[in-house]
Amino acid sequence: MDYVITGGAGYIGGHIVDSLAEGNNVTVIDDLSSGHHTNPNATLLKVDLSNGKAIDEVRLERGCTMLHLAANPNVRTSMLDVRRHFEQDVTGTLNALELARRHDASKFVFASSSVVYGEARKVPTPEKYRTKPVSNYGLFKLFGEELVERYSTDYGIKAVSLRLANVIGGRTSHGIIPDFMEKLRSNPARLEILGDGKQRKSYVYINDVIHAVTLLSGKTRMRHTRVNVGSDDSISVDEIAEIICKKMGLSPEYAYKNNLNGRGWKGDVRVMLLDNKKLRGLGWSPEKSSREAVETAVNDLLHGSTIAGKQ
Ligand SMILES: NC(=O)c1ccc[n+]([C@@H]2O[C@H](COP(=O)([O-])OP(=O)(O)OC[C@H]3O[C@@H](n4cnc5c(N)ncnc54)[C@H](O)[C@@H]3O)[C@@H](O)[C@H]2O)c1
Repeated sequence: MDYVITGGAGYIGGHIVDSLAEGNNVTVIDDLSSGHHTNPNATLLKVDLSNGKAIDEVRLERGCTMLHLAANPNVRTSMLDVRRHFEQDVTGTLNALELARRHDASKFVFASSSVVYGEARKVPTPEKYRTKPVSNYGLFKLFGEELVERYSTDYGIKAVSLRLANVIGGRTSHGIIPDFMEKLRSNPARLEILGDGKQRKSYVYINDVIHAVTLLSGKTRMRHTRVNVGSDDSISVDEIAEIICKKMGLSPEYAYKNNLNGRGWKGDVRVMLLDNKKLRGLGWSPEKSSREAVETAVNDLLHGSTIAGKQ
């Protein structure tokens, strides 16, 4: 099969490329702005997706399956550098959809996020629950979903938007786990924690996400559908800190910072847990709980594994 994977040099995209590159024809579109992963069996096109002119020059296999993961996933900077985030996350998605339209893509899979729900009162949160993002990153993901919906309705592109929980595993370069590990390496006696440590969120292991992506990219009858992808439970920031400290053999003092009613930064969501029934109905279930995902991801990172779950 022909796959085009935007953001394929990044964390999640890189793992998906590795799982598909043997036996498929894989093309990666990435500007290498943050990701640098390469796979010898995949072709890399170094292109900025927010640059419409450069995208007009790109030629792909007709009928390819497009997995669109390129974006800037940093919630915090989305509140500061708004225009750049809009270009990367919204214009980038529009241009990816244009590529899909021009090349009659057989399927378009969009990496959206749980943050589209904002501070949900209904937990676990089902897909039909209202969307009310509290960060620009979340708003731009919602814009992206709406663009996907239009292209699916107007141009008949079969599409799915995956509302991903926090994805973790080997090679994670951003998010709470590498952040805590880096802080502890530079000062083993003190761990700075953003927020009150009681924030509770769902963490899903990278292999469960790869399974969801490959399953859904193969379902050909779907017009646009929005699907939650998370583990079935959540874990608190304090519990994650404990797991990491234990595995690193450290007992630092915890220093809580930036307590915005418990949140760690503007745009942070305090509680996140997704209702996975819809995806379960399509034949998927997570192999790991949030705790198991965190423990395995910490092992992956401590032992320098380049393949999730393998050492
Ligand atoms: N990591 C998570 O926990 C998580 C959770 C929910 C949703 N997502 C979404 O999943 C996708 C992948 O996330 P990730 O964690 O792998 O992020 P990442 O930063 O590791 O990967 C993103 C990739 O996109 C590339 N990129 C960014 N802007 C680009 C542009 N304009 N043109 C071409 N390439 C560009 C970067 O160079 C990078 O390789 C993103 O869309 C993100 O919003 C991630």
